[in-house]
Amino acid sequence: MRRPARRVSVLDDRQRIDDLDSEDQFGMVAGLPDQLLEAYAGAADVIEEAGGEVGGIAVAGMGGSAIGGDLVSNVYDVSLPSAMVTVRNYHLPHWLDSRSLVFAVSYSGNTEETLACLDEALERGCRTVCICSGGRLAAVAEERGLPLVKVPAGLQPRAALGYLSVPIAACLEHLGLVESVEADLQEAAALLRKLVLRLGPDVPAAENTAKQTALALAGSVPVIYGCELTAVAARRWKCQINENAKMLAFANEFPELDHNELVGWENPPAALEMARVVYLEDAGVHPQNQRRMDITADTLEAAGVQVTRLATEGESRLARLMSSIIIGDYVSLYLSVLGGIDPSPVERIEELKRRLA
Ligand code: PA5
Repeated sequence: MRRPARRVSVLDDRQRIDDLDSEDQFGMVAGLPDQLLEAYAGAADVIEEAGGEVGGIAVAGMGGSAIGGDLVSNVYDVSLPSAMVTVRNYHLPHWLDSRSLVFAVSYSGNTEETLACLDEALERGCRTVCICSGGRLAAVAEERGLPLVKVPAGLQPRAALGYLSVPIAACLEHLGLVESVEADLQEAAALLRKLVLRLGPDVPAAENTAKQTALALAGSVPVIYGCELTAVAARRWKCQINENAKMLAFANEFPELDHNELVGWENPPAALEMARVVYLEDAGVHPQNQRRMDITADTLEAAGVQVTRLATEGESRLARLMSSIIIGDYVSLYLSVLGGIDPSPVERIEELKRRLA
């Protein structure tokens, strides 16, 4: 694809990137492989093994602190003996009871929806694990002697994906509910290290898929489509583009979107002109889902919509999902560079929280 030379040269200007990136979000993405392994070490020690069936698992969190719940449940739902849900609201589902396990995850420790869910979990006698860098959540856990995983402070929540997700998987492994987490993390970290070398800012746009994808999406409204394992990656891409590049973006998943959104790709014409679609593909999907994706791409392209297709890499479900996530993290950062925007601040979220308080 041909792009104006000026845009390409912006992405290959390391000094400009460093000047914009006030809190080193590029460094955080490059550090994700190490973060995954660091987050695993010792995390499971917070929870004691206890006999008896686990009657439901919930991860209560919002935004950058919730996506880790989706990640773990999506990777391990093929083997989990119990339902696992991510709760992004003030109330837990009614079916969670004293046999249930509830992870309260808030990077700041001060997110009101998460604190409300923790209160409900404690009222119902659920087993709880708190994951945070401090704040009210840490204070409640310490006062009440609840299992607590404290993660390093001073980061953007979305840059703490490993710290906020791996302890959940480690605890489930420790309780015998899932297997092979450590091996999966080793594979994922090794693969991510290779991807950092291929997608990082020092690799020129001509050889860098993340930079090329950002160039294809610049000035558009990105629409990210996942399927099965990559549905979580699609959500992560959307949120990273929203927060890092301060751009509208949307996500959806196959096969559901073929039952509604497919029809919407007719109107309004101005929206079709602005939208560009990214498919996050994975070789493990149901064959009919692969056919759906191919047929839907034909329909979109016939409607004049550009579709970029990116496939997962790796063997384990965790490694494959992380490969899809890291390219989206880089794409969102390159979009922020193209927009001349510092990826770190999320002033509107902070202002809204201030007004609510
Ligand atoms: O990325 C962000 O800053 C947000 O999505 C936050 O993660 C979200 O508002 C919840 O805050 P916290 O992660 O501190 O619980």
